[in-house]
Amino acid sequence: MAITRLPLIAGNWKMNGVKKHANKLAGSLAKRFRNQKKQKFEMLICPPAPLIGPVVEAVRGTGIAVGSQDCHFENAGAYTGEMSAELLKSMECKYVILGHSERRTLNKETDAVILNKATTAHKVGLRTIICIGETLKQREAGRTKSVNRKQLINSLPHQATAKNTVIAYEPVWAIGTGKVASPDQAQDMHQMIRAELYKLVGPAEADEMRIVYGGSMNPINARELLALPDVDGGLIGGASLIVKDFWSIGQAV
Ligand code: 13P
Repeated sequence: MAITRLPLIAGNWKMNGVKKHANKLAGSLAKRFRNQKKQKFEMLICPPAPLIGPVVEAVRGTGIAVGSQDCHFENAGAYTGEMSAELLKSMECKYVILGHSERRTLNKETDAVILNKATTAHKVGLRTIICIGETLKQREAGRTKSVNRKQLINSLPHQATAKNTVIAYEPVWAIGTGKVASPDQAQDMHQMIRAELYKLVGPAEADEMRIVYGGSMNPINARELLALPDVDGGLIGGASLIVKDFWSIGQAV
């Protein structure tokens, strides 16, 4: 049976934008998405937390999904400044990004914490985008595969399915640097991740599970990357803040 993986084009706004940008950026994308003849990809916007509500309103009825950039592993409690998965779900979020390298580094998030968060997110019905990726130092030391394998095995919940989980391969050296992974490097890693998923979630789920690429994806390099057999979309930072660029990436599917 043919495998159908609807490409996911996801924008991670990180800590960028204020309310007026949310309305403008999400509103313009909503218009373009609504007017397209055929939906060739799924679009997702992950704004900073306080902009989730305004973005949900701006894209309502278009089919564009909204997600969070993180969540807590508890559903409620004395955790000042944190957000629960349950709250995000109630705000109409569909996805949550977990284990982004910026959080792994700056917030010292371990695989165990990410696993906990993903488990909670799945319980309330959120889909997770679990990020993995090696640093330049690790790549140069020949540890690319072992680092990614370890992150994947230790942060992926046992109940992960193709429906509730997306894997994002984001080489740390490519994030925000303008240095994109070559098609060979990207396919090599995505293929390895899928092979690992065969063991972790079984062949049926692994074949259907989307593995997206992140790291300096832009309208120029997107076509080549998105055409690779195991690249099922992109997790886009900088270029997701410019309507024309983000849209072009979607059109490159
Ligand atoms: P850039 O597209 O800005 O390199 O960021 C990628 C990223 O970190 C998405 O999560």
